[in-house]
Amino acid sequence: MIEAIRPGAETVDLLDQRLLPDRVEYVRCRRAEDVVALIQALAVRGAPLIGIAGLYAWWLEARALRDQAAGWETLMAAKETIARARPTAVNLRWALDRAAARVVGLTGPDLAAAIRREADLLAQEERARSHAMAVRGASLLGRGSRVLTHCNTGSLATAGVGTALGVIREGYRTGAVSRVWVDETRPLLQGARLTAWELLQDGIPATLITDSMAGFLMARGEVDAVVVGADRIAANGDTANKIGTYALAVLAHHHRIPFYVVAPMSTLDLARDAGSDIPIEERDGSEVRTVRGVAVAPLAVEAYNPAFDVTPGSLITAIVTDRGLAYPPYRETLAQLQQSSANGGNADDAGY
Ligand code: MRU
Repeated sequence: MIEAIRPGAETVDLLDQRLLPDRVEYVRCRRAEDVVALIQALAVRGAPLIGIAGLYAWWLEARALRDQAAGWETLMAAKETIARARPTAVNLRWALDRAAARVVGLTGPDLAAAIRREADLLAQEERARSHAMAVRGASLLGRGSRVLTHCNTGSLATAGVGTALGVIREGYRTGAVSRVWVDETRPLLQGARLTAWELLQDGIPATLITDSMAGFLMARGEVDAVVVGADRIAANGDTANKIGTYALAVLAHHHRIPFYVVAPMSTLDLARDAGSDIPIEERDGSEVRTVRGVAVAPLAVEAYNPAFDVTPGSLITAIVTDRGLAYPPYRETLAQLQQSSANGGNADDAGY
């Protein structure tokens, strides 16, 4: 399995996903600003991964400042800059806030060391969460399912086997998945460049389609389930994920195909009441006008580029988390999972 992040003793190496699938190259980061630039450029992406990368970025900053009397306030300002690198995936701010609450009161080298421990711990936790989701999610799929997925939710988006792609990997291993339809995921082609690449490496039968082909395949009865990841899930189950996810959910609903969202507890944001409260990142129109640097439209044309959309909880069959499965009504079942997670007890599947 490819490692998207390689922390060293003094630096952090991040895989530059913009170059995939052509080249595997890591960029060495020495300061937080190096990591922030990579996150903003989507060289490093995927909700759980940007949470981990953001925390290592904060460690780099604490390390650089450890011998100065710069203090907590400077580090809190750096933390805010990192948290703003991308607005939709809640994992980034969540990871930084959790670490800050745990290291407050420390200074100098002790503070830097404590943040590093938090970053290592988070990477380890997210790996374990991926595994737990994979097993739970695969159990939902009937034998030999043909599964459609969107964007990239694998090892390149997490620290482990992935969210939706983790479920697919485990499902293939157990016989629950026989084929994967891979949405190319315009504008930045995370499906075509990254998911197709990960599936090929695993030897899982995968067929690449353009985003507009999903409805045709569903109408023909060639899709048994849709499995996607999430960047932020509100209290009522409304889910922000890569642009195009909502259209897939509507199609799946029309064709009575189960639609599963797979996300770790670190992607839940129950403080947001509904999807309308989730900030949606808008990116530059040049990403729509071009494909990997090649113009596919007049460069003067106006282009709109929301990076995410919101799928209403009412269109989601189940939400697979590392703590258990949630079914509607999500306002109750997600709160139940969150509670069990906070208590540290065993999570049971919520709902019915
Ligand atoms: O813009 P990206 O590539 O960071 O978007 C990624 C997604 O939308 C994923 O589906 C999401 O982060 C969940 S994956 C673990």
